[in-house]
Amino acid sequence: MTMTEDGPRAATAPHEERTMRITLRVWRQENAASPGKMVSYRLDDVSPDMSFLEMLDVLNEQLIMEGQDPVAFDHDCREGICGMCGVMINGRAHGNGMHDGAVQTTTCQLHMRSFKDGDTIDVEPWRATAFPVIKDLAVDRRAFDRIIQAGGYISVPTGTAPEAHATPVPKKDADNAFDAATCIGCGACVAACPNASSMLFTAAKVTHLGLLPQGQPERDDRVVNMVAQQDREGFGGCTNIGECSAACPKGISMETISRLNHDLLGALRAGARPKS
Ligand code: SF4
Ligand code: FES
Repeated sequence: MTMTEDGPRAATAPHEERTMRITLRVWRQENAASPGKMVSYRLDDVSPDMSFLEMLDVLNEQLIMEGQDPVAFDHDCREGICGMCGVMINGRAHGNGMHDGAVQTTTCQLHMRSFKDGDTIDVEPWRATAFPVIKDLAVDRRAFDRIIQAGGYISVPTGTAPEAHATPVPKKDADNAFDAATCIGCGACVAACPNASSMLFTAAKVTHLGLLPQGQPERDDRVVNMVAQQDREGFGGCTNIGECSAACPKGISMETISRLNHDLLGALRAGARPKS
C-alpha cells in the first residue's frame, strides 16, 4: 500500500477488465415441426471469465429486454456432472478442443477465454434423428432413458448400504466399472458420430453394471435388450470411427464398446434374446 492525500491506495493499478465482442450465429427453431435457421446476434461486453452458458444467459437477457423470444437451451448443474447441457459449437460437440488446457469438457465448463475478441461462433443443437429438436438448442433425449429402462438396472436386493468388504470386487474391475459409471448421459457421443450411434453411451451403462457382482443376474438380458432398444430408437450403427470417445467429456474409452460387443456375443451364444 502507498499513502495518498485521500488515504491508503493499492500499490498496483486495479485490474482493467477485458471484454470481448462476439457474434453468435444461433440455430432458432420454433418447434420440432417448423423449419429452423441460423440467426446472428452481436454481444459487445462478454467477459472472458463467463462460461459459455453464462454468455447465452447474457444473450437471453438482451433478447428479453428487446421484447424478443429468448433462446431455449438445456442446463442444470453447470458443474459438468448432470449431463443436461450440450450444444454443437463451431461444429464440435461441447466445443470440444477449445477449452484452455483441457481437451474434453461439457458446454457449461467451457469458458469464453477459449475464444478471441471478434470471433463469430456457430451454436447448433445436437443433430440426430433419435434426438429431435424441441426448440432452438434443446433436443429430446428421452431415447437414452428408454435404453436405460430396457436393462440398465439390477434386481438383487441391496437393502441398506452393505459393509464395504462384504462383496469383494477386484481392483481392476472396480476401476473400470467406476470409469464407465462416470458417463453423464449428455449425448455428445451421438452428436459427434457421423452415424449418430449411441454405442458409447450404451456400452458405458452395460459395462458399469456388467463388471460388478451385483450386475451378474441380468448381464445377458441387459446387453441384448439395451442394444435392441438403441436400434429401435433410430440410432446408427457403430463403425469404430472414435469421434464419440474424442468428444466425450468424461473420456469414456472405445474399449468400453469392445466390452459391450464381447458381452453381446456371449449373451447371444448363450441363447439370450431381446424382449419384443
Ligand atoms: S458416453 Fe460420454 S459423450 Fe456419451 S453420453 Fe456418456 S458422457 Fe456423454
Ligand atoms: S449443466 Fe450439468 S453438465 Fe452441464
